Amino acid sequence: MKLSPALQYSHDLLKQVVTPGDTVIDATVGNGHDTLLLAQLVGKGGHVLGFDIQTSAIKATTTRLEAEHLNNVSLHLTGHQNVDQYLNEPLAAAIFNLGYLPSGDKSIITTGNTTIEAVEKMLPNLKPNGIICLVIYYGHPGGDNERAAVEKFTATLPQQNFNVLEYQFINQVNTPPKLIVIQKR
Ligand SMILES: C[S@@+](CC[C@H](N)C(=O)[O-])C[C@H]1O[C@@H](n2cnc3c(N)ncnc32)[C@H](O)[C@@H]1O
Repeated sequence: MKLSPALQYSHDLLKQVVTPGDTVIDATVGNGHDTLLLAQLVGKGGHVLGFDIQTSAIKATTTRLEAEHLNNVSLHLTGHQNVDQYLNEPLAAAIFNLGYLPSGDKSIITTGNTTIEAVEKMLPNLKPNGIICLVIYYGHPGGDNERAAVEKFTATLPQQNFNVLEYQFINQVNTPPKLIVIQKR
């Protein structure tokens, strides 16, 4: 057994939590790697809501999903902080990949305020044992502010309602990503 990097570990958790027919969210669609996994996990009877503020991300993900003949995803060209306008049902899981789109404009980054607003709006819909994964890349300018804000917010969620996990290799160079997972009790 090898310890998984943060992103892989988030996928391992999603595979355990998400079942066919579920509603789930990819809060930062980017090139669609997480969207594809979620679409496969929920199957034809399920629904993935995807959000990104960049047209190029929505286009790249649309192409990726079409290649796999998946049509159970609604992609929204808007910030994840507007999730309450689209989410009306119980939520099994959500994933955020915080930072910038690796192949894109590195000045377009997620921010602590909007990330926290989005999480706050998702929590009331989260099903018991449902999870929100936050994969936090923070080596870029602005990234450490977001990391600190997200850590502060998630660390104060009431423990009678939520378990919050932190997962990171702490002896690696180049600020490896950190994973925070919120699970509804
Ligand atoms: C690290 S990338 C996501 C990578 C993606 N998960 C993938 O598989 O390629 C972060 C993405 O968040 C997007 N983003 C930035 N602010 C956002 C917001 N407020 N709402 C939704 N997406 C946002 C960026 O445009 C970027 O595509």
